[in-house]
Amino acid sequence: MTSSAERLWQRLGSIAYGADYNPEQWPRERWDTDIRLMRQAGVNLVSVNIFGWASIQLAPDEWDFGWLDDILGRLAAADVGACLGTGTASPPPWFSRRHPETLPMTADGIRLSPGGRQHYCPSSPVYRSAAAEVARRTAERYAGHPALAAWHVNNEYGGHVPQCFCDTSAADFRRWLHQRYADLDTLNDAWSTTFWSQRYTDWEEVLPPRLAPTFANPSQQLDFARFSSDALIACYRAEAEVLRRITPEVPLTTNNYTKWTLDSFAWGPELDIVAFDSYTDPRSPRTTMEAAIAFDIQRCARNGEPWLLLEQAPSAVNWRDVNLPKSPGRYELGSMQAVAHGANGAMSFQFRQSAGGAEKFHSAFVPHAGADTRQFRDVTRLGRALSRLGSGVLATRHTAEVALCFTWPSWWALELPARPSSLVRARTELARWYEPFWYSAVPVDVIPPARDLSRYKLIVVPSTYLLSEAESAALCDYATGGGVLLVAFFSGIVDAHDRVPQGPYPASFTDLTGVRTEEFCPLAEGTTAQVHFSDGVTVTATLWSEFTSAEPDVQILARFADGSTDGRPAVTRREVGRGQAWYVATALDEAGTAMIARQARDAAGVLPLVREQTRGIEAARRHSGDHDLLFLLNHAAAPGHATLPRPGRDLLTGRRVSGRTPLEPYSALVIDLEHHQPE
Ligand code: GLA
Repeated sequence: MTSSAERLWQRLGSIAYGADYNPEQWPRERWDTDIRLMRQAGVNLVSVNIFGWASIQLAPDEWDFGWLDDILGRLAAADVGACLGTGTASPPPWFSRRHPETLPMTADGIRLSPGGRQHYCPSSPVYRSAAAEVARRTAERYAGHPALAAWHVNNEYGGHVPQCFCDTSAADFRRWLHQRYADLDTLNDAWSTTFWSQRYTDWEEVLPPRLAPTFANPSQQLDFARFSSDALIACYRAEAEVLRRITPEVPLTTNNYTKWTLDSFAWGPELDIVAFDSYTDPRSPRTTMEAAIAFDIQRCARNGEPWLLLEQAPSAVNWRDVNLPKSPGRYELGSMQAVAHGANGAMSFQFRQSAGGAEKFHSAFVPHAGADTRQFRDVTRLGRALSRLGSGVLATRHTAEVALCFTWPSWWALELPARPSSLVRARTELARWYEPFWYSAVPVDVIPPARDLSRYKLIVVPSTYLLSEAESAALCDYATGGGVLLVAFFSGIVDAHDRVPQGPYPASFTDLTGVRTEEFCPLAEGTTAQVHFSDGVTVTATLWSEFTSAEPDVQILARFADGSTDGRPAVTRREVGRGQAWYVATALDEAGTAMIARQARDAAGVLPLVREQTRGIEAARRHSGDHDLLFLLNHAAAPGHATLPRPGRDLLTGRRVSGRTPLEPYSALVIDLEHHQPE
């Protein structure tokens, strides 16, 4: 059976391309001009009505869909699909005035006011039912409308208010806890409440972790992070249920992001298509790799299904302190990078740059200066390039043989206060292990361990501090079953409630790796440790060292070579069952991490996608029965090259390419490789 997502791809026939379009900000005379410019730029999908609530529900009983009828009619006539917003992310002023109890509250008890956006408590039943009613009326009105291509539910859930601490949220938190623990004894046990006299005797005593004199209970904070992410999902479901009932054939999406607050892996199954907003910082040298990591997380949220880049900035944003434009080529390359990582769409915020409001200096397809601009020419060039990829690309899937382990509960728990070192950050450690694969043309997935691990040849666990029993068992089984598992320091330290099992660290892996840690020895900022490999190479490590010892059958690849951990095993490998378990007890520098990643990759039999390439070239593969697409992206400011495994045809230029293939700075090739004909 064709899924609603597949129906969308079939309808579009090529990569989704377009932007948020806010016709309500413009006189109707301009709408036809805008639609003509959309066609000129190759736009096939626009997000409309994202912030339309106040323009649709003028008062509790006064509705006006006239303007939306009009613009949807014009879009349909121009064959531009609508990713139709439910418009519910910013309640109108009349609503907040009438229902002040729906306004969210911060941890220190401050009620947030209307006047910006997203001023609602995600747990508020009043807000939820009002939003569902707006969604219901919108869905009933546009069910079967030729412009309706997909639903864009709400907008960036939790982007501004990821957690609410009001009394409504407190009651909802207690209900959530009741479902999770059933009785208070179990909750007391899970939260270790004998510590600091925190034992609860009545559910009403249980609160969100509001501002307290010192560290709030970490297990309570962890559960509140879980609850808050779930509360946003429940808020989404209130609208989603209505939409699914009225328009079951239309796919649902909402634009997520990769932040600490919202568990993207929990969102995946809720959506028909995962959508992501990517706002890379042109000033950051690591921005393209950070984008790649986020893309991989989002793709893996729905097990590798095609996803949508729903927002990015065509050039500058307006919300950093200094907002640099993207230099020429970067917008197109960034869009192609999303496609390389499995996206079937490269959309942006926004189509026409606002004249007023908080985002008037945010870039757009059509800037204030108009369509005779570099920006609009870039946009048009990208529209053409994406259409040249054709429909074949839509059915291909990104493929990877290596996985990096990542979970939100671990991220939440790791970054709570009162840890051995606040310098150890989940995303930084993920990036540390992502980097060597990225630079060596080896694509990866980023997944929670509760997945089918058997499809991977190598799995890296980068400082995944919290692992449930089931998660660590799955990883250990993976290794003994024949996989290569590489565990980096401070992984598998606590259980699902942030409690430390008795015995040496890391409880989840000591039996598997044969390495036991008695004590952590984190390194202060600016200090380093030397790590000496048995083949004579010495590399530098930062952040962390530990007092380790190893079982006799563990092969010690490197030892700490100075400081208080001098002589202790730092990098180890052990044959386990049919596979291998590696342990890295510190944060190696780039060269050291690359060396170990390379050795583990060789042990796992993972080959890069190209034979060799200049630094800064990223490679990815999308595959289907008919196509084997090799994406090559040169993120460097200098010309580069890559040596192809087989000849093929570049879909962007139609040229046949083979062997050592040059790439201009900031350019991409999408090579449809020839089948099974080794050069
Ligand atoms: C977010 C929002 C958009 C817009 C952009 C600006 O992604 O979803 O409405 O505010 O940021 O960068």
